[in-house]
Amino acid sequence: MASAARSASRAFLRSTPATSSFRPAARSSRFALPSQSLRTSARRGYASEAGSGKSSSGGIWALGLAVAGGAGAYFYLNGEPKGPFVPTKDDYQKVYDEVARLLADETDYDDGSYGPVSVQFHQKPMRKEFTDADSSQHQVLVRLAWHASGTYDKETGTGGSNGATMRFAPESDHGANAGLKIARDFLEPVKAKFPWITHSDLWTLAGACAIQELGGPQIPWRPGREDKDVAACTPDGRLPDATQGHRHIRDVFYRMGFDDRESVALIGAHALGRAHTDRSGFEGPWDFSPTVFSNEFFRLLVEEKWNQRKWNGPAQFTDKSTSTLMMMPTDLALVKDKAFKTHVDRYAKDSDAFFKEFSESFVKLLELGVPFQSKPEDRYVFKASE
Ligand code: HEM
Repeated sequence: MASAARSASRAFLRSTPATSSFRPAARSSRFALPSQSLRTSARRGYASEAGSGKSSSGGIWALGLAVAGGAGAYFYLNGEPKGPFVPTKDDYQKVYDEVARLLADETDYDDGSYGPVSVQFHQKPMRKEFTDADSSQHQVLVRLAWHASGTYDKETGTGGSNGATMRFAPESDHGANAGLKIARDFLEPVKAKFPWITHSDLWTLAGACAIQELGGPQIPWRPGREDKDVAACTPDGRLPDATQGHRHIRDVFYRMGFDDRESVALIGAHALGRAHTDRSGFEGPWDFSPTVFSNEFFRLLVEEKWNQRKWNGPAQFTDKSTSTLMMMPTDLALVKDKAFKTHVDRYAKDSDAFFKEFSESFVKLLELGVPFQSKPEDRYVFKASE
């Protein structure tokens, strides 16, 4: 089933027009993965090395045995203490690979990707019942990285990805975070295997990994986040409420420091996954290929007619052609508001522009509130899997 879905995903990507200088994530062949390895000829390799001095010692430390987790952990080589473990780019690539491997092990995850098979290639669209398989760990990892970072308030410098405070109540119980325990739990074995990484670095790295593994753009990433305790939990209400309109979107995204263009680009992540009645109350996916990163969310926003769904749930909209997709009020606000719509139109036509601008905005999102010692040019570009 998964392989059928993979073929569908490949066909979908082949049918997606754009190719450009801004490439999807480069892929390595260290292990086979079920994700979309299309849009080949991607640039390979890493961005500039973070702290080149660190790299030389990293190999030695990596041979050592960790005796304690977290920053400052001491490593032992042949019984001799060798000083604090300083992870290198290669160590973080190992974390990336482990997340990608666990995602690949999810045999059912892309079961529901019916991309081109139904509406695009059949005259009569087949109605499809969307299931949990339409959104699984990949998409929920993207949502975790976003919710961990999107609490940032630029005025007070509070919230953001530096802290991983969603580990604690009350933040874990905030309505907006419903369903994210699945993602946090999914990453715990990775944390156990690499105890030196902080939760906040791990969650953001996993979000970057999920985007790349779903055929999205490269997401350059750098470490440096520290976990905080319960006292740093953010107040409820910082994440957007999908029942609202354009003013609310601007209130929330401007508070984080984004402009219109960046806000629209970020919300384009709704090409992925779906809403669940038992999490947000909303139901369904935004497009026909919820396991492939694409500009389909924008194309459908512009080209499809969206009618209010008649159902016993929150106000949401459904596509006229198949009645299988959905948009939430905040999604439709992107075409109702003139300034937002300029970007929606652009992204609907130009997948390359979307990939590039999404990547830049997502990198910025994942770094909100982090007092990095490193420079932006020190970011790593991880190799994605084949
Ligand atoms: C106005 C802004 C936004 C609102 C109101 C919003 C709201 C929501 C809601 C209600 C869901 C459904 C959750 C569920 O029931 O499982 C959802 C899912 C999702 N959101 Fe957003 N979101 C916004 C922006 C973003 C951004 C900026 C990103 C990432 C950059 C993002 C990524 C996702 C993903 C990947 C899912 C699917 C999760 C899954 O399949 O489990 N969203 N969003």
